[in-house]
Amino acid sequence: MTASYIESLHLENVRQFKELNVTFNKGFNFIAGPNGCGKTSILAGISHCFSQHSFQFSRFKDDSQFWADIKINNNRKRIGSGPNAIDSAGYRKGNLKSWVKPPAAEGREILSIYEANKKIKDFCPLFIGAHRNIKYKQISGMQREQPLEQQINNNLFTSSQSLYGEKESNIKQWFVNRYFVIDKDWAQEERLNWFHMIESLPFIGPFNSNFSYVTTGQELEPVFSIYGEECYLEELSAGFQSVLSIIANIFEWVEGTNEPGERIALNAEGTVLIDELDLHLHPEWQFSLREGLSRIFPNLQFIVTTHSPHLLSSAGESEVIIMQKQDDNRYTLQPSEMRFSGWNTDQILSEIMGVKSLENKDYEKLVAIALLKTEEGSAQGLRDAISNLVEVCHPSDSIVTVLKARLASMVALQDD
Ligand SMILES: Nc1ncnc2c1ncn2[C@@H]1O[C@H](COP(=O)(O)OP(=O)(O)OP(=O)(O)O)[C@@H](O)[C@H]1O
Ligand SMILES: [Mg+2]
Repeated sequence: MTASYIESLHLENVRQFKELNVTFNKGFNFIAGPNGCGKTSILAGISHCFSQHSFQFSRFKDDSQFWADIKINNNRKRIGSGPNAIDSAGYRKGNLKSWVKPPAAEGREILSIYEANKKIKDFCPLFIGAHRNIKYKQISGMQREQPLEQQINNNLFTSSQSLYGEKESNIKQWFVNRYFVIDKDWAQEERLNWFHMIESLPFIGPFNSNFSYVTTGQELEPVFSIYGEECYLEELSAGFQSVLSIIANIFEWVEGTNEPGERIALNAEGTVLIDELDLHLHPEWQFSLREGLSRIFPNLQFIVTTHSPHLLSSAGESEVIIMQKQDDNRYTLQPSEMRFSGWNTDQILSEIMGVKSLENKDYEKLVAIALLKTEEGSAQGLRDAISNLVEVCHPSDSIVTVLKARLASMVALQDD
């Protein structure tokens, strides 16, 4: 049972938000909404609650305040910055002028950002931005991994950098390091994680791709296989690079920011935030990714943004947070209680994602005409409408089948 996760976020006069309150569930959270409504800003807002080192990524006002309510091993805490603590100096110059704690809340320990890396050591969210391509980098050998405290600080201090693609990816070094250490006696947890990852890749890859890790050769270049072809890390296509980056990044983070004894990915808890999870993926992979991630990391909380109706249709109950642009910039958001697995893509696009243009599609107009002709009892009108519809619709469209049946019974009645 997940006992450590982000319960909610409060932002006041941060970025474009006058006020924003979001509650999250402890499993998957898919934030969906139009371009520019503030999805990435929610992730950035969360990153500010844990470190002031990323403040230049947001504009603040003098009266900005923000905090995240979190649960760590079932203890409730609130972390962030209270009133009058920010010096809004100007573009990319936002600063903390004092460590003001956020307001009290019953049953919660209240912490200022300053205390993030000390008092909530075992809770250190991972941010993964939308830039996930893997650039070539020569690895010359195993690199000593930093001590735990340094990795936690590094992770907290660079969270917005990660979100906005300004942090160099380390995953190739991680692969090479694992190649050197997994057979050592002292690397039991790393070994378990490694084999868990290797065994999971074929399941997470798209149908028939047989995505797998092959080897790391003497030249320290990890080799993978997709569709039966061997492929170096940087040769993987954009979709594979994107998903592999996410997975390797999470393994690296689980191992780097937890005490020994708590580094097994299958048991790991905490929060991973990913911007544009569906980026580069074919619809089929968008459908299956949620399942793949929760199979590898069953106890993590995921807060992700997306523009994909396919990803949304894979969401379980209370996993979709729908965001619509509000003119007054005040938002109260929570996961919708519905699940959308029985909805078709058009229904998700128009009713959840607010895609207006669908209503004007030729198909919708022609169906409306056909229904009108049916109501008027005009067999010829309906026949014409059906033949127009057949030109634009799917060969096995169910509405056309029903309309054809209506036409047949209309004609039969008129013949009688
Ligand atoms: N540093 C900033 N300071 C103040 N306002 C900002 C800042 N960055 C972004 N904004 C505002 O936030 C708005 C929403 O941006 P955001 O990146 O959160 O949108 P989004 O929902 O992630 O959109 P997309 O789907 O295109 O990624 C921007 O239009 C801008 O007005
Ligand atoms: Mg965005």
